[in-house]
Amino acid sequence: MNRDLFQGDQLPEFIFAPRTDPIYNAHGYLTKVPVDGIIPHLMTFSVPGETVVDMFAGSGMTAVAAKITGRNAVVSDISVLGKHIGEGYLADVDAPEIAKVGSNVVARARRRFKDLYQTDAAKGRQVEAIRTIWSFVYRCVSCAKEVVYFDMLKKNNWKTPSICPHCSQTFSKRSSTYICDVPVLIVVPGEDGKQIELPVTKSDKKRIKRAEAHPDLAVVPSKAIHSDREMYRRSALGKWDLKETKRFFSARNALALYYLWDELNALHDRETKKKLQFAFTAILPRASRRYQWSPQRPLNAATQTYYISPVYYEWNVFELFERKIRASIRADEEIRTRRAALGLSKKTKQEYVLCSAAKLKHLKDRSVDYVFTDPPFGSNLFYADMSLFHEAWLSQTTDDSEEAVIHTNGKRAEGANYRYEALLRAACEEAYRILKPGRFLSLVFGNSSGRVWSMVQQILLSTGFEPRPVHVGILDKGQRSVKGLTSGFEGVSTLDLIVTVKKPESPIAQQTPTNQRSIGDLIEDVVSEIDFHGHQTPSHVYLTVLKEAFEKQLPVDELHLAQIIDVLRKRNIQVDAKSGEFVTTA
Ligand SMILES: C[S@@+](CC[C@H](N)C(=O)[O-])C[C@H]1O[C@@H](n2cnc3c(N)ncnc32)[C@H](O)[C@@H]1O
Repeated sequence: MNRDLFQGDQLPEFIFAPRTDPIYNAHGYLTKVPVDGIIPHLMTFSVPGETVVDMFAGSGMTAVAAKITGRNAVVSDISVLGKHIGEGYLADVDAPEIAKVGSNVVARARRRFKDLYQTDAAKGRQVEAIRTIWSFVYRCVSCAKEVVYFDMLKKNNWKTPSICPHCSQTFSKRSSTYICDVPVLIVVPGEDGKQIELPVTKSDKKRIKRAEAHPDLAVVPSKAIHSDREMYRRSALGKWDLKETKRFFSARNALALYYLWDELNALHDRETKKKLQFAFTAILPRASRRYQWSPQRPLNAATQTYYISPVYYEWNVFELFERKIRASIRADEEIRTRRAALGLSKKTKQEYVLCSAAKLKHLKDRSVDYVFTDPPFGSNLFYADMSLFHEAWLSQTTDDSEEAVIHTNGKRAEGANYRYEALLRAACEEAYRILKPGRFLSLVFGNSSGRVWSMVQQILLSTGFEPRPVHVGILDKGQRSVKGLTSGFEGVSTLDLIVTVKKPESPIAQQTPTNQRSIGDLIEDVVSEIDFHGHQTPSHVYLTVLKEAFEKQLPVDELHLAQIIDVLRKRNIQVDAKSGEFVTTA
């Protein structure tokens, strides 16, 4: 084994891995790390044929990166959905086979679905709707008359309406009563192939009614979302009567999904079935009422909440599924091409185990060559709650009793911080136990709270890892939310830090950091050295300070994005509200 490989300085400080590659896009999962953020780490801290572990594996990107780079992988998570997605990515099936079986499944499901997407809106032509736009109907608090929200938007040039069209009194969604949803527009292929929007006809409404009364709706897979779930309160599911997952689908889409799923379950070949079921779960958010409409273009589904916007799409499920099969084929091709480019011929094995990171019973002491992992960050994202939406279709749901999240309401809020820290500590101890001496753990942590970073610092030290990281990198996943950055004044950071520490060859005595400099001095140093040209944001500065603090072993408890913004303001460095990037006015 060539020890020279393991020099952190070969790894770039900034890794740009935008969320646009075909692998990333084949299936959604909360806070996925693109393979391009993982591969440089795998190549630096392990060699082909070795075994890597990720114990917070989510969608299994570490296993996919291992497959591409010729490493074995044993990844794990408590998430049933994560395992389903990871195994879907890893399933090996030839493209023509998936395409053929997929199109047969669609044909059979369509036969059972009959003509429910058909429309005669395109006068004289019977076509299938590509999508239907639906709107909430509210009751005005002043005149008690019903208003169709889409009509109000249209009348108001697509700006938020504030006047009731019936009584001209002030209108707001919040103060009005929600009544029901109605279809308002149908999108069909025009004669020249271009899509056209048409009004909904009487016979369209009849078909919708027929779907709503269909007996098969009773057997559509569904799971209750109970009121003790964190996301029940956060997404106000009680208020919107969204207490079970099938309520998120229109009757037509629930039926189309059910027929597809039923046909997929009847497939015999395990790998083909896995790949196509993966494509199926990938379309669920878009097939649901969570797919937000906007006058310019579809806004996608909000992945972190169960929000349904007052105007949304009912997309043709068969079309979505056929598109997703093609996207899965593209992801597989990408994996094969990248593997081939590295000239790796030896067969490797990647497996996904369902278990808590706190107890990796399936892994022996000192048996693993490298750990790359991305733990959950406390109180923002509730993976198990959000996964129920997909897991309703799988045979199992996630046991969230050991989920590393910080509950903020209900019984589980008590002692939540303590439990979170204990889980993270147990996971790091497991990483230490399974790693061979002299090998590395890389930890991704995308959040901006100094308190959490400080906790990670302490845990790594007390677990026995060498105190000075061998590498601290900044992972830039591209700018998803400029809004997040500008309102980043409240502490949202869109870049991730990846800290790599070494398990010493032999145990070392615990050390307390002796550095006497303050974090305030460090911020001043970093800000004065930064070149404010280029596309930098306050998040870059924040992570650079964190990186330096980790390297210098400075405690980061008090570090917060707001503190950095403050220093920047004092130096007259402003942030452009639109781009989120710096503007120097001095
Ligand atoms: C930040 S996500 C990982 C995402 C992953 N990097 C990807 O690319 O998809 C964190 C994961 O930790 C999992 N998790 C939470 N508590 C856990 C525990 N006690 N043991 C194992 N996994 C846990 C969640 O289910 C979630 O999938």
